[in-house]
Amino acid sequence: MSAHGKQKRQTTASIRAMKGKDRVVCLTAYTTPIARLLDPHCDLLLVGDSLGMVLYGMETTVGVTLDMMAAHGRAVMRGVSHACVIVDLPFGSYQESKEQAFRSAVRLMQETGCDGVKLEGGEEMAETVAFLTARGVPVFGHVGLMPQLVNIAGGFRSLGHSDEEAAKIHRDAEAVAEAGAFAVVVEGTVEPVARQITASLKVPTIGIGASPACDGQVLVSDDMLGLFNDFKPRFVKRFADLSPLVSQAARDYAEEVREGQFPAKEHTFQPKPR
Ligand code: KIV
Repeated sequence: MSAHGKQKRQTTASIRAMKGKDRVVCLTAYTTPIARLLDPHCDLLLVGDSLGMVLYGMETTVGVTLDMMAAHGRAVMRGVSHACVIVDLPFGSYQESKEQAFRSAVRLMQETGCDGVKLEGGEEMAETVAFLTARGVPVFGHVGLMPQLVNIAGGFRSLGHSDEEAAKIHRDAEAVAEAGAFAVVVEGTVEPVARQITASLKVPTIGIGASPACDGQVLVSDDMLGLFNDFKPRFVKRFADLSPLVSQAARDYAEEVREGQFPAKEHTFQPKPR
């Protein structure tokens, strides 16, 4: 809290400094009204490329574009006064070269006002992470299950079951953290591996499907609100079940319109008496 009683705005530096002290609370946000509701309760809001699936009905995140991320990043920034805001670099906007990654990141930061960007990848992205952070772009890493690689991986499944897989995720996390990432998302990873990574990294690990051993947690907000019901992975807990409420409201509205009950007198403008 500040001297005026308002919550202080979180930054990538303050998130990094939470390592070993406080758990980091993170959710995704894609729109202004939802960002406004989540902001007071979260340290970090992620404008995730999961918006392709959650908002646009895509099968994967591969079709998400920089234009989409910029538009939703701007929308979220309009609703935030407390949380640190990170926008995902979408597939194809950073993997070609570190220069391409820098251009894409600068575009997102300048057009949205966000605090930094997230990119998926481990050892192979370390040089890019170092290039960006050395030039003023804070980077949120993302290792373990990487949804943008779905076409190589052949689907989504938890990782770290074999020694080779576990060692690879560990190397990936260390590579991006050493390259300068201020925090690292660890997705879909078995608990012992998440625990080891969390113990060895100097920056916070933010888990999604990666056990309570991580320094913080992130969920797709529509999943935890029960609004995105296309699939319900084991790691999601529904803190609310909003879909039936929305369906019921639509049913009631339809019935009242069809029966001429809505709009009622109180919803209707009448000419002012002359
Ligand atoms: O796109 C996204 O929402 C994410 C998080 C779930 C980590 O990458």
